[in-house]
Amino acid sequence: MVIVRTIDEFMQSRKKLNGSVGFVPTMGALHKGHLSLITRAKEENESVIVSIFVNPTQFLEGEDLDKYPRKEEADIEICRLAGVDILFMPAIDQMYHKDELMLAAPKVRGYILEGEKRPGHFDGMLQIVMKLLNLTNPQKAYFGKKDAQQLMLIDQMAKDYFMSCDIMPCEIVRDHDGLALSSRNVYLSNEDRQKALSLSRSLQKATQFVMAGEKNAAKIIDAMREVLSATDKIEYIAILNRSFEPLEEIVLQNSIILVAAWIGQTRLIDNVWI
Ligand code: PAF
Repeated sequence: MVIVRTIDEFMQSRKKLNGSVGFVPTMGALHKGHLSLITRAKEENESVIVSIFVNPTQFLEGEDLDKYPRKEEADIEICRLAGVDILFMPAIDQMYHKDELMLAAPKVRGYILEGEKRPGHFDGMLQIVMKLLNLTNPQKAYFGKKDAQQLMLIDQMAKDYFMSCDIMPCEIVRDHDGLALSSRNVYLSNEDRQKALSLSRSLQKATQFVMAGEKNAAKIIDAMREVLSATDKIEYIAILNRSFEPLEEIVLQNSIILVAAWIGQTRLIDNVWI
């Protein structure tokens, strides 16, 4: 594995890769969820590139940019063991320049749910993903379904800008107790973690309702709200189709149920694709 930190070094190493390339962009603090993306990229491509870059433009004023978990040594080891070919770890000045052109998330689907609570977050996220995809030029890029709105917007960007790379949605990885893996889980105390389980439990409840034949979104949301009352604050519960338009009734194979809630100072999200 080569570790590169500048664009020039990256380009030199990229030129040496032959055949299909799979790309996994990350912000580091790698866990089993990231590892599952890397493993899939390994299975489906001849070479794999991983990037680690805590992207400042997708953090809002007052968010956890400074305290976002950073574990460089462990991350390097995980990538090495996973058989990554190029690990790209740029500094901010390699990725951003003064007064540069900005991408903007779509006005509706980029400003609901996560985008409503974190206005501007998706502009910065799309900006960096566009840069990274142009730079790495992979055949396939891998993104987790846990960040479902991010995945939908990246997929739309790739289509709207006629990008040639395939955007590959990957399953959510959960801990033994059902908690969806997230780099932010390290902020949770034991007590918080118990409360955090109500996110996945609310989605299990929703799935049970659907399996029992309930299609009405309002009824499913009410049942979820009850389970989520164990959290410190529910931010949203939403039932949407896969294009992120609201649904009154579940449509099988084309619905996503999403939830965001606060546990103490930590904001968690989770979802299930039905
Ligand atoms: O999901 C993430 O870790 C980030 O949003 C991404 C896609 C690496 C862009 O910074």
